[in-house]
Amino acid sequence: MPGSSRLPVSLRETFNNARKSSARGQLIALNLDVFRNIIFILFLLRWTRKLYYKLKGRGITGSVADVYTSLRRTLYGIFLRLPGVRTKVQTQVAESILKIERKLVPSGPGVERIVALPAQGWSEEQVRKALTDLEGLEHTRWEDGRVSGAVYHGGADLIRLQTEAFGKFTVSNPIHPDVFPGVRKMEAEIVAMVLSLFSAPEEAVGVTTSGGTESILMACLSARNKAYKERGVAEPEMILPETAHTAFRKAGEYFKIKVHLVACKAPSYKVHLPSISRLVNPNTILLVGSAPNFPHGIIDDISGLSKLALKKKLPLHVDCCLGSFIIPLLPKAGFESESFDFKLKGVTSISCDTHKYGFAPKGNSTVLYRSDDFRKYQYFISPDWSGGVYASPSIAGSRPGALIAGCWASLVKQGESGYIDACHKIVGSMKKIESALREKPELAVDLKVIGRPLVSVVAFLSDTLNIYDIADGMNEKGWHLNALQSPPAIHVAVTLPIVAAADKLIEDLIEVTEDVREKERRRVVEGKGAKGAVKGDTAALYGVAGSLPNKSVVVDLAKGFLDTLYKV
Ligand SMILES: *Cc1c(COP(=O)(O)O)cnc(C)c1O
Ligand SMILES: *[C@@H]1O[C@H](CO)[C@@H](O)[C@H](O)[C@H]1NC(C)=O
Ligand SMILES: *[C@@H]1O[C@H](CO)[C@@H](O)[C@H](O)[C@H]1NC(C)=O
Repeated sequence: MPGSSRLPVSLRETFNNARKSSARGQLIALNLDVFRNIIFILFLLRWTRKLYYKLKGRGITGSVADVYTSLRRTLYGIFLRLPGVRTKVQTQVAESILKIERKLVPSGPGVERIVALPAQGWSEEQVRKALTDLEGLEHTRWEDGRVSGAVYHGGADLIRLQTEAFGKFTVSNPIHPDVFPGVRKMEAEIVAMVLSLFSAPEEAVGVTTSGGTESILMACLSARNKAYKERGVAEPEMILPETAHTAFRKAGEYFKIKVHLVACKAPSYKVHLPSISRLVNPNTILLVGSAPNFPHGIIDDISGLSKLALKKKLPLHVDCCLGSFIIPLLPKAGFESESFDFKLKGVTSISCDTHKYGFAPKGNSTVLYRSDDFRKYQYFISPDWSGGVYASPSIAGSRPGALIAGCWASLVKQGESGYIDACHKIVGSMKKIESALREKPELAVDLKVIGRPLVSVVAFLSDTLNIYDIADGMNEKGWHLNALQSPPAIHVAVTLPIVAAADKLIEDLIEVTEDVREKERRRVVEGKGAKGAVKGDTAALYGVAGSLPNKSVVVDLAKGFLDTLYKV
């Protein structure tokens, strides 16, 4: 280290200087000099340490690649800001946002808009009619199983029961357990039921939250607070599989936790364990695995992660938001499974969405901890507020007891047998679609299943066709599949409504794939110059986004999209 050899020399110098004269001013100068040297050494130590962990974590080639990527991003950012380029880009972004708006916001003379309170309240009849109209606005037909994921429906009877439960608890709020004891009891029982599903040990605890994102935010916050209190970690870092849900990146942004992404490469598409191990350093507060992940429906090697977490003495969060009530029941439904829950000693927290395959109303999830030693760090307690001593378990203050009642009613109505039955149907359909992709020659020539999915999601890509053209073709036929990126792919998250439509989906997919194949063949015959038909929305967006070194244009577009959501 270049700094360490400097210290004795300059120390000696300053010491000699000080001895030569006894003036007080020089003593101060001496102290200042020592002080400056110490600061310099600390500074040097800090950066050497950072550099060391960077090189250890990403290796020489990885670090060089990182520098290259970041350089390209900066340069492209500068290019985007050049006067001529900037106006052109801005115009195009504005045009695209206008297109989104035309699609999402109903307009025209016939559309009535409410932009202020009606002076006189409406009659009940009027409200009812308006609600029916709103429900009936033209939309992608989730009711006919045309939408991947999104609507985790437990059947019409269950919905009726949930609505009844809402009615009984409309005004309730679990922040007042003495006023609504029933809600408190139901909430505690929901946590207990989910804990038992995930083989939780005796001391395990949990809380309910408003959704998977909040569950994940809470798990990250708890890990951050724990590391700060117990190990003094002030610059926290966490290590994620690149396929982990983006809610972890949100947690990184909200709570200032540095995020390291680790590749999940073909053919298994599971997170690469040795890369995680290399990235661990004294600032690491949390390891993460998904069971399964959202993009590809693949379960990471949770046993391997658990061993690593134990070895490095780090908490490990397993995201079962999507797996929710399916993955724990795979063995009982007769399907192949992998270890993923508290049976693995290294797993310290699990997120499980009751509002996904628990079929509870939207706005409901749980986060489970191996012991109170983790949960206590997510609580917020304010002992000296003028409004009184205040304590809340998660982000929200007041919470809707009605949702808790709806969730509780769903869990006890379905019971284990109900969820096993749903597991049969959903995983069965996923496997049907997977086999079609692998075995039907019309599909298998061009489409490739990603990894070996075991739960409810099957993703596929193509080395020969533009997969986004296929997504757009399916859109035209009334389907809404999920477009994925890096690598370009699409997925189907099977839900109960899709189970009934799976055969039709396969049939349409075959047609669309042949269509796209035919178009591609014509394009090649007519020469590279003939770009062919106009691109669909998905192909246009991801075609551009995929090739951009700096995605600030995509960020602008997405911001425009969010703004559009609040336009009347
Ligand atoms: C859906 C999902 C989440 C959380 O999503 P919410 O929309 O906030 O409920 C987290 N992880 C995975 C893998 C998911 O699929
Ligand atoms: C990407 O481009 C934008 C717009 O020009 C710029 O503000 C931003 O700093 C760039 N990002 C990086 C990482 O350089
Ligand atoms: C249900 O949702 C509400 C509000 O989003 C949340 O506060 C509550 O804890 C959730 N309960 C369950 C059981 O998931």
